Amino acid sequence: MRSFKAIVVSALVAAIAILFVTSGFYPTGSAIQSDDDKNDVENIGLSLNENTGTLKNPPKKPEESTSTSPAEREPDSANNTDPEGEPDNGRNIDPDKLMVALTFDDGPCDPCSNEIMDILAEYNSLATFFDVGSRAEVYPDIVAREVEMGFELGSHTYSHADLAKLSDEEAKAEMDKANDVFISITGKPASLLRPPYGSLGGKSPLSSIPVVTWSVDTLDWQSRDAEKIMQIIMDEGNLDGKVILMHSLYPSTVEALKTLVPYLIDNGYQLVTVSELAKYKYGDDLQPGTVYGYDYFR
Ligand code: NI
Repeated sequence: MRSFKAIVVSALVAAIAILFVTSGFYPTGSAIQSDDDKNDVENIGLSLNENTGTLKNPPKKPEESTSTSPAEREPDSANNTDPEGEPDNGRNIDPDKLMVALTFDDGPCDPCSNEIMDILAEYNSLATFFDVGSRAEVYPDIVAREVEMGFELGSHTYSHADLAKLSDEEAKAEMDKANDVFISITGKPASLLRPPYGSLGGKSPLSSIPVVTWSVDTLDWQSRDAEKIMQIIMDEGNLDGKVILMHSLYPSTVEALKTLVPYLIDNGYQLVTVSELAKYKYGDDLQPGTVYGYDYFR
């Protein structure tokens, strides 16, 4: 009888262990890969969850920030340290109002990048492009236009490399080569890095640049469907302080923006760059060598 009990207990322990492993240990969205374009996959890597431990400050929740008095949340306009040197780009961002950062990876792309810019410009709004250096070489005019219009230019490495699979020297070379292209076009390096596939591996983040991921993944590369992109964003609920991941490559993403941008504006959101979001919503200047991930932009 005692041995029967032991067997039952062992079986229960094993069943619980299997449930635990199958339900909790896989990062959402990490297993799906597109098969037709190495540029169009954004995985959520375990490494980034590990790296969120490097966050400089605990994030403020939107509910908390709205209850803070305007005086306490005053942007540092008198002491402007905006790395772009062009705070607000004439848009008069109100730190006490809702704001969200749209981001577009894997470009530049002709014509999608231009169409994205045109839609946002129509609403006096900005966003952040995480461009690939090798593509910037092909479409320098688009990168130049992004910067001229006030969009934030982030790096997505030179060749859309999985930095986790490279040595530190190789990873640095990917960053430097991309920046050489960006500097040759715009006169300055990228202000942020978004690692392809959200992957930094077990390495410490690259020390020369703030590393930014996202908080809402639209899976636009997967669905290629404007309605599904909109549905994911609307299902998210409160978007204040969040970073939305999209891509520059797909007409369906452009189509979604034609609905999304007016939807956000009508709901009181200011559409800002990632650095503006950090500055005005969280009161931070993003720091090199720090990963700003899901736990920050929430
Ligand atoms: Ni990418």
